[in-house]
Parts: sequence; C-alpha cells; structure tokens
Amino acid sequence: MRVLVTGASGFVGGHLVPALVDAGHTVVAMVRDSDRYDPPPGVDVYEGDVLDPGLTLPTVDAAYYLIHSMAADGDFSELDRRAARNFVAAADAAGIDRIVYLGGLGEDDADLSEHLRSRREVERLLGEGAASLTVLRAAIIIGDGSASFAVIRQLVERLPVMVTPSWVRTDCQPIYIDDVIAYLVGVLAEPATAGRTFEIGGPEVLTYQEILVRTASIHVGRRPLIVPVPVLSPGLSARWLGLVTDVPVSVAKPLVDGLKNRVVVTDDSITDLVDVELTPFAEAVRLALDAGADRHRERAPA
Ligand SMILES: NC(=O)c1ccc[n+]([C@@H]2O[C@H](COP(=O)([O-])OP(=O)(O)OC[C@H]3O[C@@H](n4cnc5c(N)ncnc54)[C@H](OP(=O)(O)O)[C@@H]3O)[C@@H](O)[C@H]2O)c1
Repeated sequence: MRVLVTGASGFVGGHLVPALVDAGHTVVAMVRDSDRYDPPPGVDVYEGDVLDPGLTLPTVDAAYYLIHSMAADGDFSELDRRAARNFVAAADAAGIDRIVYLGGLGEDDADLSEHLRSRREVERLLGEGAASLTVLRAAIIIGDGSASFAVIRQLVERLPVMVTPSWVRTDCQPIYIDDVIAYLVGVLAEPATAGRTFEIGGPEVLTYQEILVRTASIHVGRRPLIVPVPVLSPGLSARWLGLVTDVPVSVAKPLVDGLKNRVVVTDDSITDLVDVELTPFAEAVRLALDAGADRHRERAPA
C-alpha cells in the first residue's frame, strides 16, 4: 500500500515510518519542514501543515494521523480541533479510504482532562470524513523520545525525594513503543479493524508511583522517597515539572492534568485481530534507556 504518515518527525511517527517500509509499504512522510527531516531510504517526503486551511494531501491508500498541538503556543484543544477538521477535508478531497489515529486511553464517562477530552474530540472529527477510521487508544508510551517517558526518566534521575499530588496512586497501563508500532502496522493489514476503536496497553497495570519506583531502581539503582500530598494543583505540578525536567511547561501541563484519569485497557478486542507479544515494563524501560544512551553517544563529539 501507499501510506501517508503525518507527524513523521515526531516520536511515534519516527518509529512508524521505517516499520511500514519494512512491512513492504510505500511510505510518504508528511512534515512541516522538510529541511529538519531526514527520511529513511526510499521514503518520499511531503510538506504540509494541518493548521493550513488550504492543506492538500497526496493520493494514498491510507493515512496515519499522529499529530497533537501541545507544543504549540495557545489553546491546544482549539488548534487540534482545527487541525483535525482541515485534515479530514483534505483526506476527503484526496479520496483517502482509511485513516489510523493513535489517541489516548481513559473512560469516556470519567471526568477526562482537557488533553484526553481533546484527543477524544480529534477521534470524533476524524470519524466524520469519508474514510473509515481505526482508532488505537494508548496510555504512556515507553520509549526514547516520548515526552511522557522523558518526564518519568528525568524525575527519577534528578529527585531522590518527590512531593507529588495524589495522582501517584492512579492506575496506568504503559506500553512499549515497538508494541505500539506493531499494532499500528498490524491494523493496516487487517481490514476488520477499519471503522473500529481499540484500546492497547502493556502487560502490566501500574500506579504512577510504581512506574516511578521501578524506573528508578532500573535507571539509578535507588528507590525514591515519594510523599503524596492531598493538594497540589495541576498548574503548580506542571511548573514544578517544568523546573525539574526539560519538558516544556506547555507539554507538561496537559500531561499532568491527565494523571488524575485511570488509563487502563477495559476492552482487549484488538487481541483477536492483531497478535502482538507485549514487552514487560522493566524490559521496555531498559530498552528505552539503552536507546537514549546510544543516541547520546552518537551525538557526542569523537
Ligand atoms: N507519546 C506518548 O506517550 C503517547 C501516548 C498515547 C498517545 N500518543 C499519541 O500519539 C500521537 C503522536 O504523539 P507523539 O508522542 O509522537 O508526539 P510528538 O513526538 O510530539 O510528535 C508530534 C508530531 O506532530 C507534528 N505536528 C504538530 N503540529 C503539526 C501541524 N500543525 N502540522 C503538521 N504536523 C504537526 C510534529 O511536527 P513538528 O516536528 O513539525 O513539530 C510532530 O511530528 C498523538 O496523537 C498522541 O496523542 C502518544
């Protein structure tokens, strides 16, 4: 198939493009600035900004939507709404039959954070076009380059003692990036996934406290002292994360808001259609840390 990957310069898109090539697809990588993107061999590059109301898309059999606006200045929900509408209009004009979107886990009837509500709204808007939409919903993705994993890694590196809001006791089902990619590639090969929404997660449900403690013991060999306090506003938590980590506050704030929401798989029907051997949490963390260390070595002057 000829497949368009939006967000090709991002964390998930960066892993998906070579995986689709390996699976035998012809890939068109869509980026905003081709000067900042180095495509794998054989991949075509297409420049496009989904916030451009005049966006046009190339003719492809399927497109992946892997975009969010958390890093942009301004109201990310409004930007993501506009982006999804522009994309759907352009996909319809280009006659694209299938769209695959990676969104966020979380129960619809729960008091979802603005970020998770926005991810859900993007799902709905993408579903309004002519293409049949496959949605995969995931919690934290473990991998080098994932903003949410970067927060965890840097917290355990930098803080032996953490005063945290009560969200440390919320359940989460983190998943390793390669497993996410296996699902994303797998749904394209399985026509029965078209028009459906699936939840994906790793093999373990862990509280954020367990995620921090286990990552610390693997990464720095010590257990952090975590002191949950009843009141610590999301705004203050995000500013605190902004100080301690290098994740921008604009990205940390929506992520922190979402930590109050339980993000676990409640329906595993994807397992009937796409077979993925899930990576245990500890192994995922080790692989992600190793990938980060390799990247730093490659960048370091000889
Ligand atoms: N990472 C996680 O833990 C996680 C967990 C669950 C779900 N997801 C979902 O996975 C998807 C991808 O996330 P990610 O972690 O890969 O994010 P990311 O690394 O921040 O990448 C975001 C991508 O969106 C692109 N983008 C932003 N605004 C754009 C615009 N106006 N036009 C075109 N491209 C634009 C960025 O391009 P530039 O390089 O030009 O900025 C970048 O390639 C999102 O839907 C997210 O909700 C991620």
